[in-house]
Amino acid sequence: MKKIIITIDGYSSCGKSTLAKQLAKELQYTFIDSGAMYRAVTLYFLRNHVNWENPKAVSEALNNINLEFFYNDASQKSDMYLNGENVEALIRDMLVSENVSNISAIKEVRAFAVAQQRKMGEEKGIVMDGRDIGTTVFPQAELKIFMTADNVIRVERRYKELYAKNPNITIEEVKNNLEMRDYIDTNREVSPLRKANDAIVLDNSNLTMQEQLQMALAWARQQISKA
Ligand code: DC
Repeated sequence: MKKIIITIDGYSSCGKSTLAKQLAKELQYTFIDSGAMYRAVTLYFLRNHVNWENPKAVSEALNNINLEFFYNDASQKSDMYLNGENVEALIRDMLVSENVSNISAIKEVRAFAVAQQRKMGEEKGIVMDGRDIGTTVFPQAELKIFMTADNVIRVERRYKELYAKNPNITIEEVKNNLEMRDYIDTNREVSPLRKANDAIVLDNSNLTMQEQLQMALAWARQQISKA
């Protein structure tokens, strides 16, 4: 059976990765969390005090960054490795979340990540989630999903996730961070977050995980049968 490329884009904390991971599992495809790559670059820039306003410093830093995904049996997904170090937990930190939108708006950073993302899709059989996957990375993808969810629900979901790791976090902080990221991601110059013209909108505010998965699977099977 022919394999296809499935893209899932949308705002922060809409549940893109959760759906992408489940969908990939059902189809025996590879799931790629493109946001993890921008988060790993951000972690490197923060740790190494890279002056990201200076394009030369950015290019030099990117030359020293090696990103890889390795499968983790326990979580049944791939973890992000930065220069050989598993940074999956570290890249979810609030400090990274606070800076990732600005760093991922830098054109050199985007070119660096997009080139690697395209390579990962050469053999097809992938589900990649992010912000510009259906518009810029794989404009020819056979199935594009654009996810949305009610803002209050998104803040609640993200708060629960972060609270489990850090009980000092406040709902205000989470709300501000989500709103700021959405704003920067939608308004940046290079490949801003947009729904591709041929993407299907999936609003999951009132859908269970199973319901979303069944809808996405039906769309995927339809596209696979046409491929
Ligand atoms: O999906 P996420 O929240 O982990 O992504 C973190 C940030 O990375 C997000 O605020 C914007 C950026 N990003 C991007 O610009 N393009 C992508 N394809 C994925 C993420």
